[in-house]
Amino acid sequence: MNVLVIGANGQIGTRLVRKLKEAGHDPKAMVRKEEQISQFKNEGIDTVLADLEEDFSHAYNGVDAVVFTAGSGGDTPKSQTQMIDRDGAIKAIDEAEKAGVNRFVMVSALKANRDEDSWSEAMQHYYEAKSAADDHLRNTDLDFTVLMPGRLTNEPGTGKVELSEYIEDIEGRNITRDDVAAVITEMIDSPVTFGKSLELLQGETSIKEAISGIS
Ligand SMILES: NC(=O)c1ccc[n+]([C@@H]2O[C@H](COP(=O)([O-])OP(=O)(O)OC[C@H]3O[C@@H](n4cnc5c(N)ncnc54)[C@H](OP(=O)(O)O)[C@@H]3O)[C@@H](O)[C@H]2O)c1
Repeated sequence: MNVLVIGANGQIGTRLVRKLKEAGHDPKAMVRKEEQISQFKNEGIDTVLADLEEDFSHAYNGVDAVVFTAGSGGDTPKSQTQMIDRDGAIKAIDEAEKAGVNRFVMVSALKANRDEDSWSEAMQHYYEAKSAADDHLRNTDLDFTVLMPGRLTNEPGTGKVELSEYIEDIEGRNITRDDVAAVITEMIDSPVTFGKSLELLQGETSIKEAISGIS
């Protein structure tokens, strides 16, 4: 599949484009700065220069699937979180519909679709932004997956995860960015994940099994 990765220069994004290529897909890395292009070009990965704050419709040419893994970062003001994590994500969904790209994977966050009482005050605007974008996606006819990983780490991937619509025990648990990228790679063309919102943490089940076990 030709997979547009929005946020390709990010910590999940860089891992994801490599894994997609290794798995035989054709990732297209969407980056917003000229100097970010060469690292991908050197690995034979297609790139497109585009910014979520501008018109980025050209990025969708020749694309079969989109993964949104961009984010404004943890220390940005509320307005920037709304601009990227909410409005940027919503525009990305709308552009997919306009371009006739049916498959869309949203990298959301674990508590975004849970009761607001579980949100800390400091994180409220972040979860609100994520949740609004997720709802927008769920209201489309796209073959979507909303993927909601817990706290991300840069430890090496283990290949073992817990992936389901609701994970009971989430406190103190993490997931590596390596494993998030591996899960997205495995689910990108997996119809069992279409129309699903899935929470993701480190677990005991292999990624293949975790995905095939989704009902
Ligand atoms: N941190 C956590 O524990 C956690 C937990 C659950 C979910 N998440 C979510 O997981 C996703 C990926 O996380 P990550 O750690 O890979 O994030 P990251 O390293 O901060 O990457 C985010 C990427 O978004 C890009 N971006 C920001 N503004 C943009 C714009 N205007 N146009 C195009 N691209 C833009 C950045 O580009 P530049 O490289 O040019 O800055 C960066 O490459 C995010 O959506 C995050 O909210 C995070």
